Amino acid sequence: MQTATKEAISATDTFPILGTDHIEFYVGNAKQSAMYYQAAFGYELIAYRGPETGSRDLVSYVLAQGKIRLVLTSALSYGHEIQEHVMEHGDGVKVLALWVPDATQAYHAAVDRGAVSAFEPYTIEDDQGKVTLAGIKTYGETVHTLVERKDYNGTFLPGYMPMSSKRKVEPVGLKYVDHSVGNVELGDMNRWVKFYQDVLGFKLLITFDDKDISTEYTALMSKVVSNGNGYIKFPINEPASGLKKSQIEEYIECYRGAGVQHIAIATDDIIHTVDALRNRGVDFLYVPEVYYDDVLDRVGEIDEDILELKRLNILVDRDDEGYLLQIFTKPIQDRPTVFFEIIQRKGAQSFGKGNFKALFEAIEREQGLRGNL
Ligand code: FE2
Repeated sequence: MQTATKEAISATDTFPILGTDHIEFYVGNAKQSAMYYQAAFGYELIAYRGPETGSRDLVSYVLAQGKIRLVLTSALSYGHEIQEHVMEHGDGVKVLALWVPDATQAYHAAVDRGAVSAFEPYTIEDDQGKVTLAGIKTYGETVHTLVERKDYNGTFLPGYMPMSSKRKVEPVGLKYVDHSVGNVELGDMNRWVKFYQDVLGFKLLITFDDKDISTEYTALMSKVVSNGNGYIKFPINEPASGLKKSQIEEYIECYRGAGVQHIAIATDDIIHTVDALRNRGVDFLYVPEVYYDDVLDRVGEIDEDILELKRLNILVDRDDEGYLLQIFTKPIQDRPTVFFEIIQRKGAQSFGKGNFKALFEAIEREQGLRGNL
């Protein structure tokens, strides 16, 4: 039934998207970042571009697990825009690439409806076929690359050579990108929600106001937009006024503008995934043990052993359709900017509203330690 509904929606979809194609981070040292994602998160190295492939100014490592592809890119030459991006923002997400059936058509449709061009459509090819790419700008300096790859059989994109991990990589069960969240400046949330509605034909799924998401000190507002088939979900956050600096303001100050706050990755077995990630040294936000005292009263019966969830500090929330399990990493670079969420959905299609308070208090404790509260 789920599938039928999705197909029915996509028949009238004004901006068809097949899924997330890849997520590209601009980083200071792609070689070392690639090792981190392999060793800590169990991603496999699948492709590379750099001087050896004729790319003299920049180097990229492509990592994959499940349907997720991460691209880690660094500049090789002085004054390159990627280097400037890293100087300004630190390591961060530059591209949320969308897999589309027709990149040229999607680009022109978006630009006609008001999108700002990042780059015009162009086609690249190698002996594995051809790919057409186009780019439109979104919040901050973030870009949506539109990727049309129906005529391509290679590992990633033309210009990349296949490359595999030098050490054995053990995946941790990461499956696909569930949602990607943006932080925007105060007053900008509705503008970007309207952008996704008007330009990309997204629907407004959920609104959270500062009454839903506030603690003693800080508050934020959030709206979630989703594309026609529901495969792409973009929550957009903006700070709301509180007694102290909100986590969104801290992000915007440290990232020096709007940008991607977190990427939520789905797993089918969060206990296994988080256990493996913890064993490899991934740091997660800590939620105090009292959270577990009444969690079952709040969410009702669940399949998982609550003691295991408590041991791993995994959070639970329920909505009308089911429940979900989730946990958040600490920022994955020294600036308190982008982080990951690990999520397992058991029916629930929401975002863990019941956990917001506990989570934000956890984030504020970290902010306090950084002297940013
Ligand atoms: Fe999330």
